[in-house]
Amino acid sequence: MISDPHVRPGEIARHYDLASLFYRLLWGPHIHHGLWLTGRESPGEAQEQLTRELARQARIARGERVLDVGCGLGGSALWLAAHRQCHVLGVTLSGVQRWWAALLARTKGLSRRVQFRRINAEEMDFPAGSWDVVWSIECTEHLFDKAAFFRRAAGWLRPGGRLAICAWLAGPEPLDAQQTELVRQVCRAFLCPSLATAEEYLGWFRQAGLVRARFEDWTPQVVRTWELCRRRTQRLPLRRVAGAVDRRMGQFLDHFETIHRAYTTGAMQYGCLLAEKPAA
Ligand SMILES: C[S@@+](CC[C@H](N)C(=O)[O-])C[C@H]1O[C@@H](n2cnc3c(N)ncnc32)[C@H](O)[C@@H]1O
Repeated sequence: MISDPHVRPGEIARHYDLASLFYRLLWGPHIHHGLWLTGRESPGEAQEQLTRELARQARIARGERVLDVGCGLGGSALWLAAHRQCHVLGVTLSGVQRWWAALLARTKGLSRRVQFRRINAEEMDFPAGSWDVVWSIECTEHLFDKAAFFRRAAGWLRPGGRLAICAWLAGPEPLDAQQTELVRQVCRAFLCPSLATAEEYLGWFRQAGLVRARFEDWTPQVVRTWELCRRRTQRLPLRRVAGAVDRRMGQFLDHFETIHRAYTTGAMQYGCLLAEKPAA
């Protein structure tokens, strides 16, 4: 695991409060990578495809209860409610995101099935067996104690429940000095206290008592995301506006090249990580 001791908890919430408008402009309602399977998908289709593929791999059934950890603007939660009729609770650190996601749920007529709360996932708790699925796309990078989070999440799952995660990962060990430095730069610019390897995630799942832990490497199918982001920031005056709003936001846009290099040099990977709670 590669860590950055400079990331502070309050900064993450502040970043998402300020940056949600930029995310909406750059990415739309899903704030995560796209998954290109044919190469012909539009960026929006590729993002929806990533959500759909995670739902397929996690075998999400109609009407299941899903906890969406780090729900952003509600992209996944609303998709699961609309396409799988799931009952979803989305949690985010950002009050702005919570407000926006709830508004989207109302406009789409989904508020009976989807709710959003502003909660720190590292402090929240639920009774044992509350959820069929604990789902999280690109949030666990921001958690300070990932092992403790997965121990608690395993307790919230009902027997036979599933954990479905997509995450930015440190590449498989050993990384050389240059690769390690690239991952450190990504941690700093994107406010990740640490990036862990796929092996470390699978180890935490097993230590939490989960079974059938597995990882799929989606790096080649998602890397195009950063080529598109670079192009969009060059075309639109986003960099100037972002830098004026917040120094951190400017830094974030400046590092699209860094993350692209990290993926293409093996310093980082991206993938889905799945596990199940043993049936009773
Ligand atoms: C990159 S965005 C992903 C959003 C969403 N999952 C999606 O795919 O569209 C990261 C999200 O994680 C949330 N997050 C980060 N740390 C968190 C924490 N400790 N508790 C709850 N949410 C957190 C942020 O507020 C943000 O919504």
